[in-house]
Amino acid sequence: MDRTIGILGAMAQEIDEVKALLVNKTVVSIANREFVVGKLDGVSCVVAFSKWGKVAATITATLLVQEFGVTDLIFIGTAGALAKGLKVGDIVVSKRLVQHDLDARPMISRFELPLLNRVYVDSDSELTELAGKAIQNLLDRGVKEMVGEKAVSDFNLAPKLYFGDIASGDQFINSDEKRQEILELLPDIQCVEMEGAAVAQVCLEFGVPFTVIRIISDTADHNARIDFNAFIVEVANAYSRSIISELIHSL
Ligand code: ADE
Repeated sequence: MDRTIGILGAMAQEIDEVKALLVNKTVVSIANREFVVGKLDGVSCVVAFSKWGKVAATITATLLVQEFGVTDLIFIGTAGALAKGLKVGDIVVSKRLVQHDLDARPMISRFELPLLNRVYVDSDSELTELAGKAIQNLLDRGVKEMVGEKAVSDFNLAPKLYFGDIASGDQFINSDEKRQEILELLPDIQCVEMEGAAVAQVCLEFGVPFTVIRIISDTADHNARIDFNAFIVEVANAYSRSIISELIHSL
């Protein structure tokens, strides 16, 4: 069966650059969302801005599956670092996703997904490995080729690739207290964002393989807001465009 790859991005500008890569495009609007259908490197793709937060991303991911019949889903966006050693510009590819703000105690244990009997949703091993290979290829060629010299020096970029667990919640994490609170309960989490675990649950329930790629934009502490917009414009847009083209090329 031919694949149709759903590609979701957490930032509008970031995903605009990915949309621009498609050829033979048509645009479909549903529920205030724009889905761009086309081909990238001969592969059928549907690209959309997920919108922010778990509910919005759930709607967009569900539409991708139900209306466009995507066979695989790739999510790309930025995240705040929780793990020690992770730096701005590093990239995390998901092993598992968890909702750090889900708590239906005492009915079930903390973080457990109601009626699904699990805390974590595993990302697809093949897609995750392919994403890792594509990213490593780009990093081996040098980050300067991806973002240019100015961004490398502005953001002190020396990116590394990590695989690990990602936590999602309907909060932008920007305090030491909040990041510590999450780390105490979920010590293996690499980074936090606002959509991945919701998209993971949609994919689990529909049986669609997925992976989540997150570019570290901040350290989820009191500095988190500073330079966020500049990071998107100067770094994340170019990373996303390069990662998606390299990954689709490898399929
Ligand atoms: N996305 C990027 N940085 C984030 C943060 N600090 N918290 C939640 N989502 C984010």
